Amino acid sequence: MTAFSFQTVPSIKFGEPAAEALAAMVSGFGANRLMIVSDRGVVGAGLVEPVQRSLTELGLTVLVHDDVEADPPEAKVLEAVAAAQEFGAEAIVGLGGGSPMDTAKLVALLCRARQPLSEMYGVAQVDRAQVPGGRLPLFQVPTTAGTGSEVTPIAIVTVGAEIKLGVVDPILYADGAVLDPSLTAGLPPHVTAHTGIDAMVHAIEAFTTKIRKNPLSDGLAQQALMRLARGLPRAMANGMDLTARGDMLLGAMLAGQAFANAPVAAVHALAYPIGALFHVPHGLSNTQVLAPVLRFNAETHPTLYAELADLLVPGSSGSDAVRAGQFIDFMERLTDDCGVNPRLREVGISHNDLPKLAEDAMKQTRLLQNNQRDMTYQDALDIYTKAL
Ligand SMILES: NC(=O)c1ccc[n+]([C@@H]2O[C@H](COP(=O)([O-])OP(=O)(O)OC[C@H]3O[C@@H](n4cnc5c(N)ncnc54)[C@H](O)[C@@H]3O)[C@@H](O)[C@H]2O)c1
Ligand SMILES: [Fe+2]
Repeated sequence: MTAFSFQTVPSIKFGEPAAEALAAMVSGFGANRLMIVSDRGVVGAGLVEPVQRSLTELGLTVLVHDDVEADPPEAKVLEAVAAAQEFGAEAIVGLGGGSPMDTAKLVALLCRARQPLSEMYGVAQVDRAQVPGGRLPLFQVPTTAGTGSEVTPIAIVTVGAEIKLGVVDPILYADGAVLDPSLTAGLPPHVTAHTGIDAMVHAIEAFTTKIRKNPLSDGLAQQALMRLARGLPRAMANGMDLTARGDMLLGAMLAGQAFANAPVAAVHALAYPIGALFHVPHGLSNTQVLAPVLRFNAETHPTLYAELADLLVPGSSGSDAVRAGQFIDFMERLTDDCGVNPRLREVGISHNDLPKLAEDAMKQTRLLQNNQRDMTYQDALDIYTKAL
């Protein structure tokens, strides 16, 4: 069997009310001043106030920073770091979707770092010698069931006007994550759909990744896909169905654990330029390229997609190539049932935009190296053309 290693966050709580579970988790860390990193949508949904109150009741001094923007621009991340430094934060809580949680990771890291953020992009680029005392204690509370950021060592930042870069380093694994399905009950249907499909893509890409595929990630990805395929249609039908919301939140977290150790590939590589250039939500951009990328991959590497058909598609049968096709059809039907239109032209992208998208996708070398099938500029252009 091939050698592998696997890491995840040391403490995960599921199912208790977030405010109490987080207070219990934080109280062991000896921090007195705590900053909650969130955004206005999450504050407006009433999700921050109970958490803030229970932490304050513990005797902590709490600052809420609610200024995170979706697909966090680098300047906004640095503003959050400055706010935490000025406040004298001793611990950080990310409370929200991937955008606040990713920002929280970088705030916890950069508060004490002498190394600039611009030198941290890429895999394992954080220089421990330049982070004296390490990062601040970090806790994550997801309010979307999508990114799995609560258990990944990844923070995605929008740099300049149009490129998304990741800091990927084990130092970003949080000290703890609190999963409370009721926090996701008020998600609007389109956010439920986009983020849920993002989570499924994490599991699909982890299971089919070229490098670092491992038995632990495989098991987590399969369990994630079963829960997400079951939970997503039910949560779409009734957002208040907490069993479905729980399946989705747990599924997204399991997918996060899987792809933190068996990284995502070409679907994300081709989705990022769409998000960066056209401000399309992350999950929707993944959905737009999902089927054409999977068809491209399955042409030469159908076996792992066929295994996913065996897991998810009732009555699937035939050769690997046929079953891989059944799996891709299944994902297309699921997208359609969620009311998501995956066409690029639907978000205002035209034929003339495709060369720039393909050019930028080629810069996502961190992700493309994980893809089973090598992808050229022309391949990327063909895929965007099919997605148009
Ligand atoms: N770190 C990782 O491993 C990882 C993985 C995938 C994606 N990402 C990144 O995460 C970001 C996307 O995160 P996301 O999809 O969770 O969206 P998001 O955090 O950008 O939030 C999207 C919107 O949903 C709102 N929202 C969040 N929770 C809500 C709730 N419970 N009720 C009502 N509204 C709510 C927010 O206010 C915001 O307007 C992107 O920047 C993406 O690149 C990170
Ligand atoms: Fe993603």
